[in-house]
Amino acid sequence: MQSTRSTFENLRKDFPILQRTVRDNKRLVYLDNASTTQKPNQVIDSISDYYRNYNSNIHRAVYALAEEATEAYEKTRDKIATFINVKDRQEIIFVRGTTEAINLVAYAWGRSHIKEGDIIVTTEYEHHSNIVPWQLLTKEKGAKLEYIGMDDDGQLILDDLDKYLATGKVKLVTFSLMSNVLGTITDADKIIKKCKAAGVLTLIDAAQAVPHMKVDLEKLECDFFAFSGHKMLGPTGIGVLWVRKSVLETMNPFHGGGDMIREVHKYEATWNDLPYKFEAGTPNIADVVGFGAAIDYLTKIGMDNVREHEVELTKYAIEKLSEVKGIHIYGTKDISKRGGVISFNFADVHPHDVAQIVDGEGIAVRSGHHCAQVLMERLNVAATSRVSFYIYNTKEDIDALVNSLNKVAKVFKL
Ligand SMILES: Cc1ncc(COP(=O)(O)O)c(C=O)c1O
Repeated sequence: MQSTRSTFENLRKDFPILQRTVRDNKRLVYLDNASTTQKPNQVIDSISDYYRNYNSNIHRAVYALAEEATEAYEKTRDKIATFINVKDRQEIIFVRGTTEAINLVAYAWGRSHIKEGDIIVTTEYEHHSNIVPWQLLTKEKGAKLEYIGMDDDGQLILDDLDKYLATGKVKLVTFSLMSNVLGTITDADKIIKKCKAAGVLTLIDAAQAVPHMKVDLEKLECDFFAFSGHKMLGPTGIGVLWVRKSVLETMNPFHGGGDMIREVHKYEATWNDLPYKFEAGTPNIADVVGFGAAIDYLTKIGMDNVREHEVELTKYAIEKLSEVKGIHIYGTKDISKRGGVISFNFADVHPHDVAQIVDGEGIAVRSGHHCAQVLMERLNVAATSRVSFYIYNTKEDIDALVNSLNKVAKVFKL
C-alpha cells in the first residue's frame, strides 16, 4: 500500500459526488458524515453489477443466478465477521440499520425477558434510536428506564451505573460506543466489566464507532452490537445486528414470513437455523452486496489508518475552531477520548443560520438536535451546529469551514 498520507489524498477521486460543485460552482465540502457518508465507485458499481448481471432472489432457487446472488450475499456476512472479529457467522443478522437492530432486540429479546420492576439503563448521550425503543418496552412491561449521567467534559458518570446495578434489578445496559453529537468514545470495557460482574447484559450502539475505528468483538465481550452500512461508505437500508449465540438462542423471532421458517402448518410453524430465523422475507440483497464492497474498501485502507487520519483532522479542527470569535465547542478536547465529530454553538446565533451561511459557500454542516434531545436538554440548548469527518476530508475542508465561520462571527458582530 502507498504511504498513508498519499492514500487519503488520492482516494477522493473514487467518490463521484466529491467531483461536483454546489452553490454557484463552489467545491463541495461535505462535513455531515455522522449523518451519512458518501459512496465510492467500488460500492456504486457493485450494486449496479448485481442488478445488471446476477439479479435474483437468494436461498431458494437452484439456477446459476440465484447461486451467484446467494454467494455474494453470504460473502458479505463473512466479510463483516472478519471486520469486527466474530468467529461464528450465525451471530450476524442483516437488518435495515442500527435503528432496526435495536428495535429487534427490544422486541425479540425484550418482550420475553423484561418484566414489571426490571430496570434498563441507557445514557444521557444516546441517539433517539437507543432511547425510544426502551421507552416503548419499559412502558409496556411496567419496567423502568434509567440514565447514566454525563459530566461537563462529555464523559459518562459511572457512579450512576454502580448505583443502578446495586439494586439488583438491571437487566440490560445499553450505550453508544461513540456519541453522534460530542464524539465521546465510551469506556466500553469498564462498563461491560461492571455489568458482567452483576450478570447484566450489554448492548452497544456502534453506529458511530465501527465506521471510524478498529472494533474487536472477541475483546469487547458485549452481548448485542449494532451498526449501519450507510455511515461507513455503504448503501442506505442495510446494517448489522450481532448477538452472542447463547443470548440469540433465547430470542423469539422478530418478523414472521418467508425464509425465517423451517416448516409451516395451519396453526404452527418452526423456525429456520440462525441467523435466518431473524431475516424474514426477501432481504436487501443489492445493498448487502454494496456493503461488502464498502467493507473491502475500508479493509484495504486499514481501520487504524482511518482512525489516525481522523485524529489528525479533529486535532487540527479543534485548534482552528477554537480561534473563531464567540464559538463554544462541546465535549472533551482530549483527542484520545473522542472521534471526528465536533458540535459547537455561537452565542445568540441559531445553528440553522450558521448552517445556511456556510452552505452558501458549498459547505455541508448539520444543525439541529441530531436525534439526541435528551443530550440537548443536558447541555441546556435546543440545537447545535455539528461537523463530522471521514476518510475523504482534508485540512483544506477545515480551512474552508473556519474561513466561513469567521464570516458568520463578523455578520453577527461577535
Ligand atoms: C449513535 C447513533 N445511533 C443510531 C443511529 C441510527 O442509525 P440509522 O439511522 O442508520 O438506523 C445513528 C444515526 O445517526 C447514530 O448516530
